[in-house]
Amino acid sequence: MFTDKIELKDFDKMDPEYKDLLGHVLTIQADCEIGGPHLYVETMLPAAPTKLDQLIVARTAAEEIDHYRKVARVAGDIGVDVSFVLSQPNEKRFVDAFRGLITNWEDNAVFGFLIDRIGRYQLEEFYDCSYLPLQRILSDIVREELGHIQYGCNKTLEMIAQGDEGKAKAQKAVDYWYVRALDMFGRTGSKRSERYRYWGLKRRSNEQARQDYIDEVNPILEKMGLKVPDPIKGRHYL
Ligand SMILES: [Fe+2]
Ligand SMILES: [Fe+2]
Repeated sequence: MFTDKIELKDFDKMDPEYKDLLGHVLTIQADCEIGGPHLYVETMLPAAPTKLDQLIVARTAAEEIDHYRKVARVAGDIGVDVSFVLSQPNEKRFVDAFRGLITNWEDNAVFGFLIDRIGRYQLEEFYDCSYLPLQRILSDIVREELGHIQYGCNKTLEMIAQGDEGKAKAQKAVDYWYVRALDMFGRTGSKRSERYRYWGLKRRSNEQARQDYIDEVNPILEKMGLKVPDPIKGRHYL
């Protein structure tokens, strides 16, 4: 187990595997940060139901773009150019959840509630990680993610409060995003995830992080009066 803390100046001396894994994880993180706005800005921003919603969607997108910039800076400093993710089509995103388009408010709400929460989980993997420049950008990003999650939760609750039709829409969106959220943690028993942990770049195994997420989200869904979807049906990465 690698327990040193690494600064940019030490990076060149690191094992090629470390360099490779750090570059890879930063590329995926950058792709996920910019992937959000590319899902909802085009359709959801002009169609926002109120001025306040429009402002919040615009601000959320601006924050994700800034998260991208922060991650891209850390990557650029180690010689990894992630700028290709800015213009890559949605269907080429690293993570399945970002490969479509969001075209209705229930999906937009539940995306914030369930998928921005995955963003928070991904970032929490780097808490106390071995690469200090990455550690330093986390707290500002996570604070903003918490806002995205809260907004998504509030909009989901508003929908449920509208009655049976709203609740059915919320449930349908939860059924869609829940399995995609679970897939975002990757395969159980992943060798690569083991190597991330060996190098102090991640804290938990994929399956542990996924279980923590389930333990957090299921009680929230139940409290909202929604059904917890089948955790296996429709999954790609088990
Ligand atoms: Fe983000
Ligand atoms: Fe977010």
